Amino acid sequence: MNKKQGRLFSKVAIVTGAAAGIGKGTALLFAEEDASVVLVDVNEEKLNEVAAEIRQMGGSCEIVCGNVGLMKTAEEAVACAVNVYGRLDILFNNAGIMPVGDILDYPEEIWDEVLQVNLKSMFLMCKKAIPEMLKRNSGSIINTSSVMASLTEPGYTAYSASKAGIIGLTKEIAVSYTEKGIRCNSIAPGWVETDMNVRLAESMGGMDKLYPIIKQQQPLGRMATTREVAYAVLFLASDESVAVSGSCLSIDGAASAAI
Ligand SMILES: NC(=O)c1ccc[n+]([C@@H]2O[C@H](COP(=O)([O-])OP(=O)(O)OC[C@H]3O[C@@H](n4cnc5c(N)ncnc54)[C@H](O)[C@@H]3O)[C@@H](O)[C@H]2O)c1
Repeated sequence: MNKKQGRLFSKVAIVTGAAAGIGKGTALLFAEEDASVVLVDVNEEKLNEVAAEIRQMGGSCEIVCGNVGLMKTAEEAVACAVNVYGRLDILFNNAGIMPVGDILDYPEEIWDEVLQVNLKSMFLMCKKAIPEMLKRNSGSIINTSSVMASLTEPGYTAYSASKAGIIGLTKEIAVSYTEKGIRCNSIAPGWVETDMNVRLAESMGGMDKLYPIIKQQQPLGRMATTREVAYAVLFLASDESVAVSGSCLSIDGAASAAI
């Protein structure tokens, strides 16, 4: 019996921040669901490892190594999708960084870098991706925001600002392009099991310090896995969510429902 077609059969996707965490988990799931994937990240070594994993399971992918905060990377990623696969259907804008610090000590250069990597990157990628999607009047853009767009803690100065900006940009693209077949949604994960939180735990003195906070903030009682987040992104990427645009999907184990 022939293998059943995947939920993204014949689709071409760009995934940023694909070398680790949520981006890696989603790139692997997209490939399992038969999408061809352009993997974008600054970390070339890890990017090659993810590409090898996808090819080993019979999937198809290309890599683009670069900083998502630069127009050059957006141009290369979209050109790669079009030149190699002939089209672009899905853009998962996901790469992000989270340097923390009080506003009074927060260096202006770090503020600029966070806004460039977390928010401007999405503007640049969309600028290059939307014209390709318009050729078929079809496309799905998913932007990774965070629960910290709406609920925050001291120290997340630039991070919370960038993540709130993503929700605004997502709505703007949705109202401008849904009529033309291009949907745009954001996701707002809570605590997710990734290197980003390993680094945060290290800065706090270890995971033992972080776990009680996660249990208290996230009624799920643990971090979500990257696979669990990827399934929500898959829904938004696939045609199953054809009526969903301009929304922000919480993937936070009820963290944002709690007081
Ligand atoms: N982990 C969480 O708990 C959590 C929660 C909410 C939102 N998020 C968001 O999810 C996204 C992914 O986070 P993660 O936890 O998987 O992080 P991660 O640090 O595990 O992975 C991020 C990836 O992005 C890449 N990257 C960083 N800066 C880049 C740049 N300038 N250009 C290209 N690639 C770059 C890194 O090399 C890395 O591979 C981020 O936007 C983050 O803010 C994470």
